[in-house]
Order: sequence, then structure tokens, then C-alpha cells
Amino acid sequence: MKTSTLVILPIVFYVALYVAEVVFTTILPKHYIFDHVVLQNIVKESLNSLEIDASAAQVMDKVYEKLVAEYGKFIEQPEGPKEWVFNNAGGAMGSMTILHASLSEYLIFFGTAVGTEGHSGTHYADDYFIILYGEELAGLPNATTAERYLPGDVHHLPYGINKQYAMPSGSFALELAQGYIPSMLPFGFIQMITSTLDYKNFGRTVYFTAVQMIRNLYLGKV
Ligand SMILES: *[C@@H]1O[C@H](CO)[C@@H](O)[C@H](O)[C@H]1NC(C)=O
Repeated sequence: MKTSTLVILPIVFYVALYVAEVVFTTILPKHYIFDHVVLQNIVKESLNSLEIDASAAQVMDKVYEKLVAEYGKFIEQPEGPKEWVFNNAGGAMGSMTILHASLSEYLIFFGTAVGTEGHSGTHYADDYFIILYGEELAGLPNATTAERYLPGDVHHLPYGINKQYAMPSGSFALELAQGYIPSMLPFGFIQMITSTLDYKNFGRTVYFTAVQMIRNLYLGKV
């Protein structure tokens, strides 16, 4: 490699990173339609309106109903969120159904009947994990005791921060991510390509994500 290339490449790299950072804090937020405080209130209202022994499925039905009332066409699906897929990422395995996916945001129900534990992943997006049922444990590398999140709580994982997390059997959450969503997709997909080889699940996940992103672009939602 020529010396000039060695000098220019890092400069290009740092300028690109700088631009990405500026766009992340100035332009991207203008395209956000979801608000984590509104979502947390929807979850809390849903929990308060249900019997104390309501099931995870009942909580999700109630939250979905309120989400449709609040966000209309950006959420609404003909038959509600019926399509669940496995998600293998960061060594954890769970199930999810996509409520909204666009280039700058996604909103999903994520959870696990069986229980799971793994790495949060390194994301160029802010993540808000609002517990619906059960609980989530999480910790930074230096933690000796786990952070614990219960129904109605929000676990905010700022972009670039990594944690280990666990959800015991039967736990479910409403997850909002805001940032460079396409940059998160490799984390969500790579274990299906290199490990589980669950090509049917892979196809369904790609399909539902693509349909959502294209549909929202059509609605003018970046
Ligand atoms: C662990 O690391 C975080 C961030 O690096 C820091 O804010 C926190 O104080 C640390 N906690 C302990 C117990 O050292």
C-alpha cells in the first residue's frame, strides 16, 4: 500500500464516523414517530387495566390494542401480530413478532417461553426494553449483581453499550430501537446463516422485515 493511502484511509474512516454521529443526533431523531415514554405509559395502563393474573398473551393483546389506537397505520396489521419468528443473536434465543420496522425504528414483541441468556449486541441505535411479563436481568462487564427489570420497567440500553442479559422462562417485552436499523440486522441474522441454518425462519424474518420497511417507506416513514 502506498503511504498516501495509509494516511487517507484512516481520515476517510474518521470523517465517515463523524458524519454518522452527527446524523444520528440531528437528522435521524426527526424521523422518529415512537416515544419511549408514551410506550411505557401504554404498557403501564395496559397492566393496570388487567387482572393481576393476566397471561403474557393477554398483556400483549391489550398493549397491541392501545398501540394501534396511538400509532394507527404505522402499527396496524390485518390480523394483528400473529407471525412469530425465532431470533438467535448474541448467543441468546427468543421469539419475536414485528409490530413496526422502518430504516430508523423498529418496535417488536420479544420474549421466550423457555428462557434465554446472552449478549445484548453492539448497536448503532438506542434500545428501550419495556417489560410486559416476567423479568429481565442485565449487567455490564464490571457488575457483580444484576440489574433487574420487572413489568412496567424500561431497560434503556444506549447505543454502543454492551451488556449480558437474561430472561427467565415466560418473560416478554415490548422493544423499541431507534437509530441505524439496517446496521442492527447482521446481529439478528448472522447466527441463522452460520449456526442454526433455520432457512425457513431466516426467510420469514427477512420477508417480514422487508415488507415492513418498504410499506413504511411508501407511507413516507424513513
Ligand atoms: C462499571 O462501569 C461503568 C461504566 O464503565 C461505570 O459507570 C460504573 O461505575 C462501574 N461500576 C463499578 C461497580 O465499578
